[in-house]
Amino acid sequence: MSNVPNIKLNNGVEMPQLGFGVFQVPDAETTAAVSAALHAGYRSIDTAALYGNEAGVGKALAASGLDRDELFITTKVWNSEQGYDKTLRAFDASMKKLGLEQLDLYLIHWPTPARDLYVETWKAFEKLYADGRVRAVGVSNFQPAHLERILDTGGTVPAVNQVELHPYLQQIEVRAFDAKHEIATEAWSPLGQSAALSDATITRLAKRHNVTPAQVVLRWHLQLGNIVIPKSVTPARIRENFDVFSFDLSAEDLSAIADLETGRRIGPDPATFNMR
Ligand SMILES: NC(=O)c1ccc[n+]([C@@H]2O[C@H](COP(=O)([O-])OP(=O)(O)OC[C@H]3O[C@@H](n4cnc5c(N)ncnc54)[C@H](OP(=O)(O)O)[C@@H]3O)[C@@H](O)[C@H]2O)c1
Repeated sequence: MSNVPNIKLNNGVEMPQLGFGVFQVPDAETTAAVSAALHAGYRSIDTAALYGNEAGVGKALAASGLDRDELFITTKVWNSEQGYDKTLRAFDASMKKLGLEQLDLYLIHWPTPARDLYVETWKAFEKLYADGRVRAVGVSNFQPAHLERILDTGGTVPAVNQVELHPYLQQIEVRAFDAKHEIATEAWSPLGQSAALSDATITRLAKRHNVTPAQVVLRWHLQLGNIVIPKSVTPARIRENFDVFSFDLSAEDLSAIADLETGRRIGPDPATFNMR
């Protein structure tokens, strides 16, 4: 039995609050990493067409012996494939690589606002959802202005917004907007790609709770209500990152972490990132 709570998405679908990310893991190494994660108890896996490792994820899923309904799989449409027909084709290509009949969550990877295709792409997502090919649809790296345009169509409200979110970039405004519209916020680079792990406040709290810095940061996310998807290719870290349910951060601890905000991003700014 896993300790991981589920987050109920706005269409009633349940998504594990803690999952496993595979950004920057080469396809050939992905099967081993995902197998280690499934062995440790993770059931939610986050990949993307861009990562080039959907096939590696699919192999690990097939080899796991787990029932399909125990797993929650997310992938994302890459910027170059936005647009109605291209998105439908990109979805089929991803599903073939993953070896799945139905996906749990499909995300628009970036809004790429200068290309102005995300509303059209969202229409394709609504078709995939209506056809039962995917259980929930969402977005990634969407700022309130981009979400407003989707909401203005009056169609399906995104179930999830996956954004860069860690102690140095806490996304107060995006989280408040998401919450107001019943969009679950999912944190990418939840450990700040490990930058947050040597922070003096984080290491002090780790000592106090007799846990590791990564466990403090992940616990902070969980207590905030974020969905988190830490990445690691190191089996001991994969297990460590899953062992975050036996302690609680106090209100004082949470406020010490709140003070770490710098507003600085690791990744690109969604307002100006238009790469194909
Ligand atoms: N939607 C988007 O645009 C977007 C962008 C970026 C990421 N993501 C998603 O978010 C996931 C996580 O983000 P991320 O991979 O960028 O960064 P992250 O999870 O914040 O950090 C990963 C880094 O931290 C290290 N690490 C992990 N656990 C550790 C531990 N317990 N102790 C010490 N170091 C530890 C890993 O090293 P080792 O692997 O060497 O162990 C790796 O270098 C991605 O894999 C991807 O699924 C989405």
